Amino acid sequence: MAYPYADRFPVLRGMPSEGRDRNAIVAELRELATAEDKTWETGKCSGTMYCGDHDHYDFMNEVFGMYSHMNVLQRDMCPSATRFEGEIIAMTLDLMHGTAAQSADDGPVGLITSGGSGSILHAVLAYREWAQNAKGIAHPNIIKPETAHPAFNKACHLVGVELRQAPIDPATAQVDLDALADLIDENTAAMIGSACSYGYGTIDPIAEMGQLALTHDIGLHVDGCLGGFILPWGEQLGYDIPAFDFRVPGVTSISADTHKYAYGLKGTSVLLFRDRILRNGQYFYLTDWTGGKYCSPGIDGSRSGGLLAATWAGMVSLGAEGYLRYARAIFETAFAMQDAVKAHSELRLIGSPTFCFSFTSDDFDIYHVNDFMRTRGWRFNGQQYPNSIHMAVTRPQTQDGVADAFATDLDEAVAYAIEHKDEPAKSSAIYGGVAGGPSPDATTFIESIMASMMDEQQALPPLTA
Ligand SMILES: Cc1ncc(COP(=O)(O)O)c(C=O)c1O
Repeated sequence: MAYPYADRFPVLRGMPSEGRDRNAIVAELRELATAEDKTWETGKCSGTMYCGDHDHYDFMNEVFGMYSHMNVLQRDMCPSATRFEGEIIAMTLDLMHGTAAQSADDGPVGLITSGGSGSILHAVLAYREWAQNAKGIAHPNIIKPETAHPAFNKACHLVGVELRQAPIDPATAQVDLDALADLIDENTAAMIGSACSYGYGTIDPIAEMGQLALTHDIGLHVDGCLGGFILPWGEQLGYDIPAFDFRVPGVTSISADTHKYAYGLKGTSVLLFRDRILRNGQYFYLTDWTGGKYCSPGIDGSRSGGLLAATWAGMVSLGAEGYLRYARAIFETAFAMQDAVKAHSELRLIGSPTFCFSFTSDDFDIYHVNDFMRTRGWRFNGQQYPNSIHMAVTRPQTQDGVADAFATDLDEAVAYAIEHKDEPAKSSAIYGGVAGGPSPDATTFIESIMASMMDEQQALPPLTA
């Protein structure tokens, strides 16, 4: 992979000896950012740009700038951070029906983390601490549906919890409850359910899982990182979305990413707990350190007040009316796009999705469809087992003409796929995008894609070397 922009700008191989003019720096970065924004402004890119509204970004950036230099670990200097954090958690709890939740110890409560993976890492840590301290389980395990996000695998790896994976029912793309129940034993700390899963946009049977959790006295974490800030509005709009929040007995924690469908800047997520005891387990104290008594509410130390302020301001500027209005457009667009998929007998939608959907084909490799759609500027996420194309509908797709363009381009893509079905497809499954080459095996993937990403993150060798 070529080093980005090496053909246009000098590559820094160390600290520049003289500082550069700020105006020149801003002009250079503005040029790059404006060009890179073109990749999604068309509305042809799945997920990732949830708001897509430059006015909203500018507004949040203005607020970010007022507090970006504040360290929320020093609360005496920035009491406003406590206000922002407390009210972001309160707004999220409200959406998740936290006020109606029965709690054993005066919960529910929450904390703010750096993103979906951050919330999941803190949740897994909380369940490990609870299992070890409250239940005396030395080596706890957590069970996730195979479709739940890899952040759970990463978190279990990092905090030393055994991860068990339950298969999904291929007909519904929801976790297989019997298989899940079979995996529970005396060392199980918690189960995971997705609302919704990243891959298929399907919601696991949270009510049944809640009953299972209560029967076995284990936790149930609902991963609402993707769906948490949009599915509740879909329910209010009358779509068939089952309760997955604190209304459901047995749900003990929920993650919902403010940097996804709450339309915040990248870098925040909310993690909610029904009971304080779970949250408090991840507080860290070191009272006899030479540098003074140390305490942090989670894994991070210093954090920027800017993200809390911008997230709070973004949420308050939209309010329930704004979120509902955005959600209405997103759901309508998603169902229009799904209708375009259903119009082709060669294509098959996976499960019963809503704002985020996946489709495959039993007649040809679906990556042929992707190969063609790429030529029309579409950027979907590629999936495997089975090969499928994933589309998380966000606000950029709600622009006029985008869903129609999808239907028209899909017609041609299906014709292309039928014509080329005996040839190998060009694209393949990489999370967050679709690679241009044939599907790499796991070793090749790690060696090539990951290694090139890591190379770019390393210091370049000095010119003299
Ligand atoms: C369902 C789900 N959980 C967790 C995550 C991880 O979130 P993040 O990328 O913010 O760490 C994602 C990301 O898309 C997701 O869709």
